[in-house]
Amino acid sequence: MDKDRARERIEELRTIIRYHDYLYYVKNQPEITDSEYDKLFAELRSLENQFPDLITSDSPTQRVSGEPQKEFKTRQHTIPMISLDNAFEESDIFDFINRIKRFVKRHIDIDFVVEPKIDGLALELVYENGLLVAGVTRGDGITGEDVTANVKTIKTIPLKLMTDDPPPLLEVRGEVFLSKSAFQMINEQQEEQGKPPFANPRNAAAGSLRQLDPSITAKRPLSAFFYAPGMIRGLNVSTHFEFLQKINSYGLKINPLVKTVKDITEIFNYHRYLSDIRDSLPYEIDGVVIKVNSLELQKELGETARSPRWAIAYKFKPRQAVTKINDIIVSVGRTGTLTPVAIFEPVDIAGVTVSRATLHNQDEVDRLDVRVGDYVVVERAGDVIPEVVKVLKEKRAITSTPFKLPDKCPICGSKAIKYEGEVAIRCTGIDCPAQLKERIKHFCKKDAMDIEGFGDKICDQLVEKKIVKGIEDIFYLTMGDLFKLERMGKKLAENLLNSIEKAKKTEFYRFIYALGIRFVGEVTAKKLAETFKNIDNLINAKEEELKSIPDVGPVVAKSIFTFFSEEKNITAVKKILSAGIVFKENEKVAGFFSGKSVVFTGTLSSMPRGEAKKLVEKQGGIVKSSVTKDLDYLIVGEEPGSKLDVAKGLNIKILSEEEFIKLIKKEEENKVTGRLL
Ligand code: IVH
Repeated sequence: MDKDRARERIEELRTIIRYHDYLYYVKNQPEITDSEYDKLFAELRSLENQFPDLITSDSPTQRVSGEPQKEFKTRQHTIPMISLDNAFEESDIFDFINRIKRFVKRHIDIDFVVEPKIDGLALELVYENGLLVAGVTRGDGITGEDVTANVKTIKTIPLKLMTDDPPPLLEVRGEVFLSKSAFQMINEQQEEQGKPPFANPRNAAAGSLRQLDPSITAKRPLSAFFYAPGMIRGLNVSTHFEFLQKINSYGLKINPLVKTVKDITEIFNYHRYLSDIRDSLPYEIDGVVIKVNSLELQKELGETARSPRWAIAYKFKPRQAVTKINDIIVSVGRTGTLTPVAIFEPVDIAGVTVSRATLHNQDEVDRLDVRVGDYVVVERAGDVIPEVVKVLKEKRAITSTPFKLPDKCPICGSKAIKYEGEVAIRCTGIDCPAQLKERIKHFCKKDAMDIEGFGDKICDQLVEKKIVKGIEDIFYLTMGDLFKLERMGKKLAENLLNSIEKAKKTEFYRFIYALGIRFVGEVTAKKLAETFKNIDNLINAKEEELKSIPDVGPVVAKSIFTFFSEEKNITAVKKILSAGIVFKENEKVAGFFSGKSVVFTGTLSSMPRGEAKKLVEKQGGIVKSSVTKDLDYLIVGEEPGSKLDVAKGLNIKILSEEEFIKLIKKEEENKVTGRLL
């Protein structure tokens, strides 16, 4: 395609994609399937790859770009972002309306707009001639943090307004938030990574938006509703409600529950209604915002130093109660994290009886200084698990003692330790029943022992039905055992037993990796296999020896050492080995990719992915599925996905398919020559 034609098609594709983004993210009414959308996107990406000088910052392909920043720049708001006065009782609303009437000194009927008060964080967007030029947090109200690169990753936010006639300047304010389900997902990930969980969706949203690395924000499903103007030039509207409709037509999401009301009874009804449906909404709200609809009247009313006179936040009743902690128990999660859980006198909070709340980790216990016997304030936020928010220290018994998590797992008795840089304390027992499912899934994985057919469902059932009580039991499974599983036929059972047999012959490094020692990935496992050659050497390795291996730092060394200082783990490892595992001679794989990690994106034209993966492995490399900052190479085929943008942003070496093939050929030739000499 020549450049002029490409330019035309690129513009056309961008318009079509923006339209479908709007339907999907803002309207929730997609007109095309995901794969049709992906095709349009891939076509745009491929044209932009061919003609990189045609890439513009508002292209839908440019949502993640740029390198991680060292710190945020600041940006002053053209108009300060002041906040709202709070009302808690019906009488506060009567006062609010009477104050307005007194202020204007004449009799008027006032229309109001009522909106949910979204519990997220305030954000201002700046559109100049329809293009998004800045995204700024509220900050201190005068100056905020410039989070433009992060804002661009939020799919509900248009990079370009959907209008042929955009106002020269549109500053618009709204609330960025995470849905309750996204919040739970992110906290599960935090736990797996040994990071502290977020206490509520608002903190998680703030933590996600204020990331210095936009590629992390891009992975968090942030969303936003817009509800107020900043500085505006060239927009002709006379009411707040019209303003909302106008920005919505530009592709900015507004809350679907927003409506106009005519009197105080309607305001109270709306407040009651939202309070009733609050728990069933997918996002957190903490009240109703009431705003004078007429923009002229808003202007006349103006604001005090703190807040506008024309709006107020009518908060819901706090969902808190006071109760007494009867016990603090320790639960062990599926990845071995020891979590303190407060067990208290059952108490009713806004219609739901609660009797336990997670205390997250030792840091949180220390911060609250919460003890058994304490009276505490417990808060329930929507369907999110209750939280202990405060200890009533004045009611504390003098005999109480601080709570400390144990240094042994309460389930299996193995050592529980805290690694540097993590807040979680983790159990190190390989056979810990609390972690068995995850350990077994990891053990059977393709890159680990590669037991074909042992997917998550089979592993779960084997543990649930108590057929497998320790990893070694996998190697003693019989047809009879497998028949106890759901939907298990003779053929499938035979295949599974065959895969187990096949997996017994493996490489030493795979076995080490399969043990699931914290921080020991494939690359470290390979280094350990090369260094120690057999399991006894590895078991007996001193912490210092481990530390001296290139790329094994003190935290990793400590993890390996602790794992093998647990007698129970050594017994378990030996039991697994004596189930008939034999190690193939550790072929010393060397080559261009030796010790390097590689990710593929796009379609390779010369060979299937599986074959390319084998070639990389033959040359000592490891193929991974996602782009992280430690990745060594990204190999790019046709129609690459977003991985290419992420990799560019992280400054990762990028190889085209041709370059990759050339490298492999060159290495193979070297090997042949080497042999001839
Ligand atoms: S209007 C000058 N509308 O609540 C008025 N604010 O306590 C600007 N908020 O800072 C705010 N939902 O972060 C408005 N529908 C809504 C809102 C809302 C949530 C937040 C916003 C504001 C805070 C005030």
